[in-house]
Amino acid sequence: MIASMTAPALEIRGLARNFGALAVARHIDLVLERGARHALIGPNGAGKTTLVNLITGVLKPSAGRVLLDGDDVTGLPQAARARRGIARTFQINQLFRGLTVLENVCLAVAERTGAARRMFPSVRRDAAMIDEALAQLDGLRLAGDALVPVRELPYGRQRLVEIALALAQRPRVLLLDEPAAGVPSAESHLILDVVASLDPDIAVLIIEHDMDVVFRFARRISVLVAGAVMTEGTPEEIRADPRVRAVYLGESGDRHG
Ligand SMILES: Nc1ncnc2c1ncn2[C@@H]1O[C@H](COP(=O)(O)OP(=O)(O)OP(=O)(O)O)[C@@H](O)[C@H]1O
Ligand SMILES: [Mg+2]
Repeated sequence: MIASMTAPALEIRGLARNFGALAVARHIDLVLERGARHALIGPNGAGKTTLVNLITGVLKPSAGRVLLDGDDVTGLPQAARARRGIARTFQINQLFRGLTVLENVCLAVAERTGAARRMFPSVRRDAAMIDEALAQLDGLRLAGDALVPVRELPYGRQRLVEIALALAQRPRVLLLDEPAAGVPSAESHLILDVVASLDPDIAVLIIEHDMDVVFRFARRISVLVAGAVMTEGTPEEIRADPRVRAVYLGESGDRHG
């Protein structure tokens, strides 16, 4: 257990993956310390979402390792990694749109506590689950929407529900893949406020195209280009790096569509 007290929350060593002839991850190294605020930036198609899929176990790497609190989880399936504390949100929302907000969060809580797999449900456990889900929603100022079907919520609030689901997993590592994508700018501050006030113990990796958001949020930034980390540094270092300006910041008109 000594290792887990000193090891980074998440460590990626030499992660590689091809899609046919296309190398989408080329020997990627990345370390998230406990409580990290790390941004992953790079042009469309750089391999950012693929990296999240490799970390969470959606995809198997062809080489390299993923360590969580110092433990190698590379061989573990997605659900086992989730139980060990890796949570993610998706670039495009993946909620049960016909269910209410509360039902969606309860499903996530049940998944974590094992209630979803229990043969004999209990009223007391259900009540505890609902209390926890409501507290989670309250923390995100979504309690007023608890009984609303997700499909009836404005898109910005749907994306907040996704964050609520990820937090219901009580993660140690949270991977946010463009949490404000598709949200009108009038609403995006709701999401960015939540992201800014996440539990400081959770290590957060955010993928985000809006550079104002990135520079405000991140303490470290990795720049991914064509499947490889081109550079990593503090926001100041990244802002001053002429290569980054050339491949990425220079294309600031190229927002995600
Ligand atoms: N399942 C797949 N099979 C084949 N190619 C894929 C697959 N998924 C992604 N790709 C390709 O891998 C590359 C990396 O895609 P990825 O979605 O990881 O990029 P990204 O950095 O997240 O881009 P964006 O900013 O547009 O979200 C792209 O060229 C994409 O077309
Ligand atoms: Mg992506």
